[in-house]
Amino acid sequence: MRKKIVLCALAVLTSLSAQTRERQCFDKSWRFVLADSVQMSQTDYNDAWWRCLDVPHDWAIEGDFYVGHPSGAGGGALPGGVGWYRKHFSLGDCETPMKETRFFLEFDGVYMNSTVYINGQEAGHRPYGYSSFELDITPYVREGENVVAVRVDNSDQPNSRWYSGCGIYRHVWLTKTDPVHVKHWGTKVVATVAKGKGKLGIEVSLEGNGTIENTLIDPNGKIVGKSKGARSSISVSKPMLWSCETPYVYKVRTEVKVGSRVVDTYETTTGFRDFKFDPKTGFWLNGKNFKLNGVCEHHDFGCLGAALYEDALHRKLTKLKAMGVNSIRSSHNPPAPELLNMCDTMGLIVMDESFDMWRRKKTQNDYARFFDEWHERDLADLILRDRNHPSILMWSIGNEVLEQWSSAEADTLTLEQANLILNAGHDASTLAKEGEFSVQSLLTQHLAEIVKRYDTSRPITAGCNEPSPNNHLFKSGAIDIIGFNYHHEWVKDVPKNFPGKPFIFSESVSALQTRGYYKMPSDTVYKAPVQWWLPYTDPSFMCSAYDNMHASWSSTHEETWDVVKHNPFVGGQYIWTGFDYIGEPTPYGFPARSSYFGIIDLAGFPKDSYYMYQSEWTSKPMLHLFPHWNWLPEQAIDLWCYYNNADEVELFINGKSEGIRRKADSHQYHVMWRVTFEPGEVKAVSRKDGKVVCEQTIRTAGSPAKIRLTKDYQGKDLCFVCVDVIDANGNLCPWAEDQICFSLSGDAQIIGTDNGCQTSMESFKAPQRKAFFGKCMVVVKGHGTLKAQSPTLAGATFHL
Ligand code: GAL
Repeated sequence: MRKKIVLCALAVLTSLSAQTRERQCFDKSWRFVLADSVQMSQTDYNDAWWRCLDVPHDWAIEGDFYVGHPSGAGGGALPGGVGWYRKHFSLGDCETPMKETRFFLEFDGVYMNSTVYINGQEAGHRPYGYSSFELDITPYVREGENVVAVRVDNSDQPNSRWYSGCGIYRHVWLTKTDPVHVKHWGTKVVATVAKGKGKLGIEVSLEGNGTIENTLIDPNGKIVGKSKGARSSISVSKPMLWSCETPYVYKVRTEVKVGSRVVDTYETTTGFRDFKFDPKTGFWLNGKNFKLNGVCEHHDFGCLGAALYEDALHRKLTKLKAMGVNSIRSSHNPPAPELLNMCDTMGLIVMDESFDMWRRKKTQNDYARFFDEWHERDLADLILRDRNHPSILMWSIGNEVLEQWSSAEADTLTLEQANLILNAGHDASTLAKEGEFSVQSLLTQHLAEIVKRYDTSRPITAGCNEPSPNNHLFKSGAIDIIGFNYHHEWVKDVPKNFPGKPFIFSESVSALQTRGYYKMPSDTVYKAPVQWWLPYTDPSFMCSAYDNMHASWSSTHEETWDVVKHNPFVGGQYIWTGFDYIGEPTPYGFPARSSYFGIIDLAGFPKDSYYMYQSEWTSKPMLHLFPHWNWLPEQAIDLWCYYNNADEVELFINGKSEGIRRKADSHQYHVMWRVTFEPGEVKAVSRKDGKVVCEQTIRTAGSPAKIRLTKDYQGKDLCFVCVDVIDANGNLCPWAEDQICFSLSGDAQIIGTDNGCQTSMESFKAPQRKAFFGKCMVVVKGHGTLKAQSPTLAGATFHL
């Protein structure tokens, strides 16, 4: 049995016989156990009884929600613990003798505190669960069978303010090179444009001695330039510019030769674009002035957990782009490399963020405990890994770090102590500005200096929730773009408080919404809670999907957008958040276990505000009338409509006009009718110059009768199937809560189910799910036939 398994693992690896670099995916056929023993690192340890799986993998998402899990509701009420992964592998038939080959194992992300053993010997350790890292395993490997064992320790909880996931949750790669090769992340390619002409600066760091030749390949695959040497440049007379609409990506192919033998080929992605953040006029890309319509995103994929699925990521970005989003903030940590690749090719601008805390902790066991020892390495690695992506236009060195404010600890630090913290051999006194020595400012300068050491082509920002110029980060002088989180009422003072500095909302809004739930009257704005230190209780555990509910520190969607839209100096905003995420269920506690902040719910269904942004941020004609039309007889109902490209909207109930509404000015974002419910149909018609632009009809649904399955998103491996509960005439039943059970025939597997309900205790992995306001989602991998059944409804099938 055991022999068979080893053989199966070996078979997955293709032969490593080429002359130059080979990088192969190392995801398949790992063994996993949720247990801990020192023996598990050993080569001859018997792992035959462990579960066989492929990474990326997240063990926490497979667990049950439980109030007693130490991660708390803030961490999604899902388990942590210590887990081990092992994989048996062979390095294949090498044409070149092993002693002339280098082997590297690369982990894109392991949450957290991972220790890697090769054949029983420790090869490396990484506490920060979001950092990518590479280990040179050459000294530990041998011909024949090898074993890699990875211990993942996420037992010290809480260590995150949101759901982190547990395990090897991103890809793993095995790379083989010649002893002479381009170092890990060893190229720096800076593409600039001036007066329509492009210039590429290329720096290559080599291990060993060889000659370097670079070839520049344009987006059509045409060679457009060549250069030689460790530092070189290439001019391009008319480069195709990278933009959100035309994300043209170039490639630099670097060839390393020893004599006439090519020993390494390395590819770097780049793109020509010209951008600036202007203190008066905001953001500019390639001479075009527009707003950064951004969203903050955490890394989880709802029911799929933190495990990286390219399809789930692509679905996320596709939905956001269709809303009009043009920028993503990787809050509050280094993202998966695939996110950056996709942003490069989809035309999404990125704010790449490093940390949610520095030295001062936000949760008991968070990264603050590793900061002193690891921050330099983690931040440097982020910049080295990501600096060639054309999509990244700014670095963020932290989110709401508590160092913004003074504390007794900071005030009593001596220069010697400060130097110790900086951990880099700097003299604190040369970094601190004269007369304003504070360790916080010093730390800010130090982090900015690390960034600039590796990249000077992009500005630095930080998400700050202390908007006054007394904020130590601002005072340090090291922040290029002033970034506020919230505090939209302070924005008018920015030009006075920060003269000559560009400004963005690094984070904004934090409105609270449950898809499908409406609290009336809709023109009352509810703060939940009224002050951040007060509890908020509402037995519904829901938040209103009219844009009329937000946290005490935040605003409605319309409020902040109005400030961004009408102040030219505001470069844009990053709304908290695009998608709901697991954990941080503000304003509630358990059993709420996922967020209410998203514009799109956890299952991927847009909430109504999605269409407000679409009306403002896209030019395609649209109209969105809500809520549904299933209420109590005589009930007073507020009907809202978001629309664009039209002068007016008329509402009809059962054919009778309820009047025409027009947005009074550019500060108004929706129109509203307060009407009396009567069953039947409600219809909105938008017109421009008297001509119909769009219309939408919603009908009162009868009793739930059947299930309807439709494709939400089809990726390469995964299909997201949307499940609607409908009446006999095909109308969505907006109150339906029927339990729906899924089964599959064929070579397919259900890998997650969800309905967007923040308090559901159903397992994300269960093959059944209750409808939530008439809808749920099932995620299937593979091909076959999906069957959805319910005791109360006629079933449905869907072919994958
Ligand atoms: C911000 C913070 C985010 C999230 C958000 C919720 O202050 O940066 O991570 O917690 O609040 O409103």
